[in-house]
Amino acid sequence: MNFKSYLATLRVQDQALPEGLQELLLALSHACSGLSQAVAQGPLIGLLGSAGTGNVQGEVQQKLDVIANDTLIAGLSGCSALAGIASEEMELPIPVGSGEGSYLVLFDPLDGSSNIDVNVSIGTIFSILKKPIPNAPLEPNDFLQAGSQQVAAGYVVYGPQTTLVMSLGAGVDLFTLDPITDQFMLTKESIRIPQAAKEFAINMSNSRHWAKPVQRYIEECLAGVTGVRQKDFNMRWIASMVADVHRVLMRGGVFMYPWDQREPNKPGKLRLMYEANPMGFLVEQAGGQAIDGKQRILEIKPTTLHQRVSVMLGAGEEIERLRTYHLA
Ligand code: AHG
Ligand code: MN
Ligand code: MN
Repeated sequence: MNFKSYLATLRVQDQALPEGLQELLLALSHACSGLSQAVAQGPLIGLLGSAGTGNVQGEVQQKLDVIANDTLIAGLSGCSALAGIASEEMELPIPVGSGEGSYLVLFDPLDGSSNIDVNVSIGTIFSILKKPIPNAPLEPNDFLQAGSQQVAAGYVVYGPQTTLVMSLGAGVDLFTLDPITDQFMLTKESIRIPQAAKEFAINMSNSRHWAKPVQRYIEECLAGVTGVRQKDFNMRWIASMVADVHRVLMRGGVFMYPWDQREPNKPGKLRLMYEANPMGFLVEQAGGQAIDGKQRILEIKPTTLHQRVSVMLGAGEEIERLRTYHLA
């Protein structure tokens, strides 16, 4: 089944999706399939390397960060149901049309920037919210909603295949882009994350900077079969959140980017509204958990658009254990 037919037939709590939301998701998928082609061409169209600019968070922008942002905005600007767009690459949200549509989109246009130039999987992460007051001009604060309010969340991985993973609050489904027909096809339904795990993903080079509960958890995993956990753990770190979380959704495990002492005043590296919230929504919809150490990520009430958060997500039993260690 192609993505358009899926959207037309899907029922969420016995309701068909509003046409505006279908139109919005279809436009988003088209923009991402266009990006997928550009990513595949890479150096052939001069797409690698730095843009020579910085974003609002003081990070160096790669050419593809900027191109991805522009491509998504162009692809969504004709959606009458959309009121506004917020992005990692823009300090402030922008209105779409009159700014009076029903939905808001937030995205990380290009996740995994450090992997662009080395031909490793990268992606796009998105979150869709309802505009609090439809038919009123767009206000920047309209975006500051807890992740539990998301209408839809998902990501596209540009990897060996281009894969779209999405949830509208009724489970998590996966679509594979057929590059011949340029259609996303439903290839896996109702993804579930096993409660137990034996694989973790964390940037180990930061271990000396972590808080004690995270150090304890990882030390116990590393101790393996003769340690308190009485089993061996495997480790992976791709350094693209999309690809690391995709692996967790496909074969289980945990993913962490916790707070650390390198920048003690920042809650973490990853951004709440367009990285942690959409991924947290997907992981919960797949039966897993997503916390900042103590609290469910989806319950955090945001105060600023680009705020950061400590992230631990994946297998329920492991995340519960991490929560216990943080509360001890
Ligand atoms: P972005 O490219 O959107 O800035 O995000 C990169 C993030 C995330 O994708 C990944 O998990 C993390 O940065 C990797 O960080 P390290 O380089 O510190 O491992
Ligand atoms: Mn990112
Ligand atoms: Mn990014």
